[in-house]
Amino acid sequence: MLELKNLAVSYGAIHALHGISLAVPAGGIVTLIGSNGAGKSTTLRTISGLVKPLSGEILYEGRNIAGLPPHEIVKRGLSQVPEGRMIFANLTVHENLMMGAYLQHDKAVIRQELALVFATFPRLQEREQQVAGTLSGGEQQMLAIGRALMSRPKFLMLDEPSLGIAPLLVKTIFEKIVEINRERGITILLVEQNANRALEISQFGYVLETGRIILSDTSAALRQNPQVRSAYLGG
Ligand SMILES: Nc1ncnc2c1ncn2[C@@H]1O[C@H](COP(=O)(O)OP(=O)(O)O)[C@@H](O)[C@H]1O
Ligand SMILES: [Mg+2]
Repeated sequence: MLELKNLAVSYGAIHALHGISLAVPAGGIVTLIGSNGAGKSTTLRTISGLVKPLSGEILYEGRNIAGLPPHEIVKRGLSQVPEGRMIFANLTVHENLMMGAYLQHDKAVIRQELALVFATFPRLQEREQQVAGTLSGGEQQMLAIGRALMSRPKFLMLDEPSLGIAPLLVKTIFEKIVEINRERGITILLVEQNANRALEISQFGYVLETGRIILSDTSAALRQNPQVRSAYLGG
């Protein structure tokens, strides 16, 4: 469904990605792991059109989307849950969710999507009129995922959804990611430093180190890989 071919990105003189290639099959969950500064967020931001690549291709359903503006990419069914959630703290839960539907003008479709988000995250429905800044970290992450779902994505990218969240809610968030994939058929590219859980729920994984893919294998094999175990799974 998505294929990156020799994607290179730099921020001025800083080379963040040195020609990476990866593939995400339709219906799957693929994990990209790597430590801080490896280039994970840059990869997602480039796919979303927020950062322009120096060279390389981003093939989505067979067409090169590299260089398209972000709203065109959202329109094609790709959506991103950014690192750090980036919710609008002064707006209510409802208003935040509506921001995710900004390209949709059909009110019936919006109502239907809202109902689907609330079916996945009943907590958001209970807190619909609450100001988002007063939600817990885990609830804000649910809101960020819900907002991304409001654009009716076929392909969802999540940037470190477990970062800074209480352990109990981390478990819930990962369960919800699986539910979104299985029940709604949404393909997922998951970026995580919490490699263990990410490799548990994905079928395939890539390891990114300083802008290069150094390993790629089935998630089951990566979990057994000594190099991965010592660097990302705590030995
Ligand atoms: N806006 C930016 N301007 C300059 N350098 C950046 C910017 N964003 C990220 N970088 C650099 O690009 C590299 C990759 O960063 P990032 O993609 O955020 O990594 P990760 O998400 O894996 O932690 C790092 O060296 C980082 O300092
Ligand atoms: Mg990051």
